[in-house]
Amino acid sequence: MLIVDGLVKSYGGAGRGRARASAGKAPDGERVFAVGGASFEVVEGELFTLLGPSGCGKTTTLRSIAGLENPDGGRITLADRVLFDASARVNVPANRRALGMVFQSYAIWPHMSVFKNVSFPLDVLPRRERPRRAEITERVERALEVTELSDYAARAATKLSGGQQQRLALARALVIQPDLMLLDEPLSNLDAKLRENMRFELKRLQRELGLTAIYVTHDQSEALVMSSRVAVMNKGLIEQVGKPRQIYTNPASRFVAEFIGTSNFVKGIVVSVAGDEVSVDTMEGRLVVRGATSRPPVGDEVLLSIRPECISLSVERTAGAVNEWSGEVLTRAFLGDAVDHVVGVSKLEIRTRSNPTLSIEPGTRVHLNVDPAKVTLVPAG
Ligand SMILES: Nc1ncnc2c1ncn2[C@@H]1O[C@H](COP(=O)(O)OP(=O)(O)OP(=O)(O)O)[C@@H](O)[C@H]1O
Ligand SMILES: [Mg+2]
Repeated sequence: MLIVDGLVKSYGGAGRGRARASAGKAPDGERVFAVGGASFEVVEGELFTLLGPSGCGKTTTLRSIAGLENPDGGRITLADRVLFDASARVNVPANRRALGMVFQSYAIWPHMSVFKNVSFPLDVLPRRERPRRAEITERVERALEVTELSDYAARAATKLSGGQQQRLALARALVIQPDLMLLDEPLSNLDAKLRENMRFELKRLQRELGLTAIYVTHDQSEALVMSSRVAVMNKGLIEQVGKPRQIYTNPASRFVAEFIGTSNFVKGIVVSVAGDEVSVDTMEGRLVVRGATSRPPVGDEVLLSIRPECISLSVERTAGAVNEWSGEVLTRAFLGDAVDHVVGVSKLEIRTRSNPTLSIEPGTRVHLNVDPAKVTLVPAG
């Protein structure tokens, strides 16, 4: 539905920057490439998330889609409409793109009632495009209803709680009936508990109304619970696009594996490849990877990623285990619903996460086991 192709946006310096493969300082030391050639496609009805650390270019990407930036390069199309095309010099103004937007610093209008806040985007349309009064009222009521604000319609907008103000910002975007909803960290001003509730509400609304949305966040757990698909951004580029489970279990790079939760990384050399089974020699012995999606050639250096919860820990050896290490517990931490142990395996420190009934004293000799299907091959580098 939305296609972003080779989007480039730089700031500062003199003159236009040329497209570069990566973001950061340009050679003249002035231009900053906020987005360095990002491409992705959003499918109708999905909640598509841009996830990445602060400064990686998420807001710039969203603002470019919204028409609030003038990108240096690339092409953006929505359905069959070209919104932006650098080479054809097309840049449809923001108010002609019919997109709904909720920004991190959602500005509600303090001098207006809740109802008026929501009707405002329609009230200010040029006469030719403005719906009739009765229709405006109907649309506002519907937007208030789905955001569960109907009871507050007459109230001054400033007399709402943080979560209610957040929903008001959402209602105001919904009333436009946008083809695409752009949400830039819309929950970041809320406290942890409310944020969690709103995640579910937002997801419910998006599903019920069949909205297509691009959601921006730097919070990986938020991205994992809400998204249909996630694009992980790093330094102005998209590193991987996939369903939450895919990017968690099959990260395409070390950056993705580290950013989406914690992982243990072990370097090694490929010694054999048979079907989908790859054997890797590491400093601590051989590890077998089963169900590998890539087939690196024998002799290649690779990185193995093993999530802490995929390692089982025991004081006894497991008979016939394939991937087994021995080591000594260095530290443990009780997390309520889990216990983490850090185990020294010669020079490596391996983090494990287990069910809270397992708690092993530091200093104890232990055995670590990893199911070959739970080891992921990550391109080294
Ligand atoms: N108007 C601007 N002028 C100059 N540099 C800018 C401007 N806007 C953004 N940048 C730079 O572009 C890069 C990307 O910024 P952007 O706001 O897109 O990041 P972000 O991923 O949204 O980060 P955050 O999670 O902190 O909101 C940053 O290095 C930022 O400093
Ligand atoms: Mg931002």
